[in-house]
Amino acid sequence: MSLSYLINQSSKFIWYSAHYIISFKYATPIKIDKTNPPPFYGKMPTGRKLFFEMMKLLNEERKLINSKFYKIPKTELKDLINTAKGSFDFFLDLPKIDKRRTSGKFSDVKTKKDLPKYFLRNFHYQTDGYLSEKSARLYEFQVETLFSGCAATMRRFSMIPLIKFIKDENLPRTKLLDIGTGTGDIIQTYKLNTKNLEVTCSDLSEEYLNVAKEKLRKFSNIKYVNCKGEELPFDEKSYDIVTSTYVFHEVPSAIRKKIFSEISRVLRKGGIFILTDSLQMDDNPILNPLLEFFPYSTHEPYYPKYIREDLASVAKQSGLELFYSKNAYLSKSLAFRKI
Ligand SMILES: C[S@@+](CC[C@H](N)C(=O)[O-])C[C@H]1O[C@@H](n2cnc3c(N)ncnc32)[C@H](O)[C@@H]1O
Repeated sequence: MSLSYLINQSSKFIWYSAHYIISFKYATPIKIDKTNPPPFYGKMPTGRKLFFEMMKLLNEERKLINSKFYKIPKTELKDLINTAKGSFDFFLDLPKIDKRRTSGKFSDVKTKKDLPKYFLRNFHYQTDGYLSEKSARLYEFQVETLFSGCAATMRRFSMIPLIKFIKDENLPRTKLLDIGTGTGDIIQTYKLNTKNLEVTCSDLSEEYLNVAKEKLRKFSNIKYVNCKGEELPFDEKSYDIVTSTYVFHEVPSAIRKKIFSEISRVLRKGGIFILTDSLQMDDNPILNPLLEFFPYSTHEPYYPKYIREDLASVAKQSGLELFYSKNAYLSKSLAFRKI
């Protein structure tokens, strides 16, 4: 496994880093006011340091796989074809993103649906925001490019508290709700490593959820619900586990608080919430400048507050107690227990 993991991850690293470098070179340079420089100016970690942090992440995952703690989805021919097509679509879309970024335009989204204002925007200046199938099909490639091929690995660190919980509880069936499923990458790993897991995928974007449904069609016991994380249409105490990856940094603080409260409502006592999202300030101080640079370089309006928010105390107000925290390169996985 070690060798195939090494080959797979190195190819992903080379492929997506090349896309990152080309897109960075292509993009109109970000203007920095050197007379009043932003806090990250002159303090960015070197490429070498970043590479070291990335290697730490991959080495940890290699050990998890070698010890058979979890397995990862196999790369199939259709994945390679999709990746090649993804590259073409990625480059085709780049000029549109660059145009939006240089003009600071982030409301270039169309929908007839009644959706919250905080959501109706081009996060990362992405084309169509979260509101089209085209955007959904590009999403995974863009995220992997941003993280040099490590996005799926960082998400999979949710598996550590998830597997431990399922083993400890030893339930005949486990009910899991995922909030903001997007195109569903992590759900494959959940299903691949568990028996009798009933999954509800939920998202405010119907278009993203449709792509998740297509991607996950070989798995049974998954349902799809188009809803807001802050207004969950589920009964109280109806889930054993709630998960959410890369959603909390994309909502305003007040919505984040409501989502915590809804999670607490739908979890049964003793159930857990696993949150995987960006690192926050001082989780790994050498990466602080990168966290500060991120919302400067792209449209992430709620990120500066997210990286400074005391998530443990906000969750506690809703009856969710933090019991686990682990960094995974630029992300971290937290687990809270319903008390
Ligand atoms: C950055 S993507 C993350 C997708 C996926 N979980 C992943 O790991 O890549 C954020 C997702 O959250 C969804 N989302 C944003 N705000 C939401 C809300 N208030 N309720 C439910 N879903 C939301 C978006 O539609 C999008 O699919």
